[in-house]
Amino acid sequence: MKHEHDIVIVGAGGSGMTAALYAKEGGADVGVISKLHPLRSHTGAAQGGIGAALGNEEEDSWLWHAYDTVKGSDYIGDQDAIETLCKDAPRTIVELEHYGVPFSRNEEGKISQRRFGGHTRNFGEAPVRRSCHAADRTGHAILHTIYDQCLKQDVRFYDEFQVLDVIMTEDGEECAGVVAYEILTGEIHTFHANVVCFATGGYGRAFKTTSNAHAGTGDGMAMMLRKGLPLEDMEFVQFHPTGLYRLGILITEGARGEGGTLHNSEGERFMERYAPTVKDLAPRDMVSQCIYKEIREGRGVNGKDYVNLDLTHVGTEILEEKLPEISEFSRTYMGIDPVEEPIPVAPTCHYAMGGIPTDYDGQVERRERGTSVPGLFAVGECGCISVHGANRLGTNSLIDLVVFGRRAGMKMAEEVEQGRQKAPLPENPEKPTRDELDRLLSNTKDEGEPIVQVRSELQEIMMENVSVFRSEESLTEALDKIGELRERAKNVVVEDKGKQFNTDLMDAVEIGFMVDYAEAVAASALYRTESRGAHSREDYEERNDDDWLEHTLFYSDTEGDYEFDSKEVTITRFEPKKREY
Ligand code: FUM
Repeated sequence: MKHEHDIVIVGAGGSGMTAALYAKEGGADVGVISKLHPLRSHTGAAQGGIGAALGNEEEDSWLWHAYDTVKGSDYIGDQDAIETLCKDAPRTIVELEHYGVPFSRNEEGKISQRRFGGHTRNFGEAPVRRSCHAADRTGHAILHTIYDQCLKQDVRFYDEFQVLDVIMTEDGEECAGVVAYEILTGEIHTFHANVVCFATGGYGRAFKTTSNAHAGTGDGMAMMLRKGLPLEDMEFVQFHPTGLYRLGILITEGARGEGGTLHNSEGERFMERYAPTVKDLAPRDMVSQCIYKEIREGRGVNGKDYVNLDLTHVGTEILEEKLPEISEFSRTYMGIDPVEEPIPVAPTCHYAMGGIPTDYDGQVERRERGTSVPGLFAVGECGCISVHGANRLGTNSLIDLVVFGRRAGMKMAEEVEQGRQKAPLPENPEKPTRDELDRLLSNTKDEGEPIVQVRSELQEIMMENVSVFRSEESLTEALDKIGELRERAKNVVVEDKGKQFNTDLMDAVEIGFMVDYAEAVAASALYRTESRGAHSREDYEERNDDDWLEHTLFYSDTEGDYEFDSKEVTITRFEPKKREY
């Protein structure tokens, strides 16, 4: 079946729906395709807040926010994009409020703001209250509100349609649309569009312990690689310091923002030793690395690989009003009441700093700035502008989704308005997808194995060898294993041969995507021979600005051959210096 829209957006989380809303308000006809119902998108899991220098609780400025973001990124975030983000953040919050986001309030009735890791006043002096929040369900509130606005504007949604291919013109130069699989019926659909925007989120599911939803399988990133397009800065993977032990479920940094503290087996508040100024509110890369150091040095609680997050002194009122979700998670999943006892936590794979390279209107780029691919955009976690560099600050993800989702939506509508036409479809654009699905369905048990086997082994090796600490040895071992898993992923057995809700078949497609971007992560981490932000190499412990103050671009034939290029980092006002907190 064929569909036509001016603009097709793939993914219905915060960035995709914001882009849709602004594109629609700009006069374009917009279709949003999502493998989930929009309200199940992973934006809904964001807890602690959205960053903006409103100054509702104490003095703040967008410039301090920009400084913190640059320093948090370990000086590899692009400062022009970061300035755009931080300047536009306060206006964005007011707009969200007007759309109906039910933000928590302070005693004056203004939007409540709390502390978060790495956010400071006066260029690093002390933590500042910058995170605007709706209790600890901020992403949920934003997602619902933007979805309501999209419905009001008559954005057309294609729910539970999984995009499997991006359609490029015969010469590979322009984007013409996408091919999607309708999960309800097993039917294949072609979407022909003047402009396509990917908003497919992150890839945390490649790691054994993750805060990400099951849908976080990096589909959009893998589809780009398969078209010969690059991925940027894939070595930078964020581990959130406080996932529920063993489960990885997020316990918001807002818990530390409200006064929670981390303790080792000796009861020591160890972050005071590593980050004397901001302590438990150091940025995530540092806190996760420190937790692992404590565990490695034998100070994991009860001799195990976790530390304690203590909220017992925070008080029932704050836990109930500002942190109800994580209090409930702790009770439900661990049987622990945070009013009475500390919560066992360990780092959990949380966020992809890298992704599909774009300019700050979301237009996808082939190489350096100015080499955009006509008709192709990317926003949100699957994109890399790059505002987060080597380490994202908490709350900067939600603000990124809305600020840059809006810019992309307006830019796409402008392109349509200014006459961008639909690029011609190649002959039979659905054929590669149909052939691949037929091939997967014909795999037999003699040659293949269950999908879960390949996926579990991928998740194990990524967790063991490519997580918080890496080395040449661990990464080489991971790459060898990924090479083996790529071959095995081609032969996985799809037990369900039916048409309706064949999620088994979609799992088989996703494991192929996962192997492709896992290779991008491991290979980029091996390539960057320094430690910066969330990329911590045990064999290259120092940051090396002389050789590595640049973005990595990874290109692959997705058959095991890959190459790298680099892209300049934009520095406007903050010269790189040693990062201390
Ligand atoms: O800790 C959190 O609430 C997560 C926020 C974020 O990733 O921005």
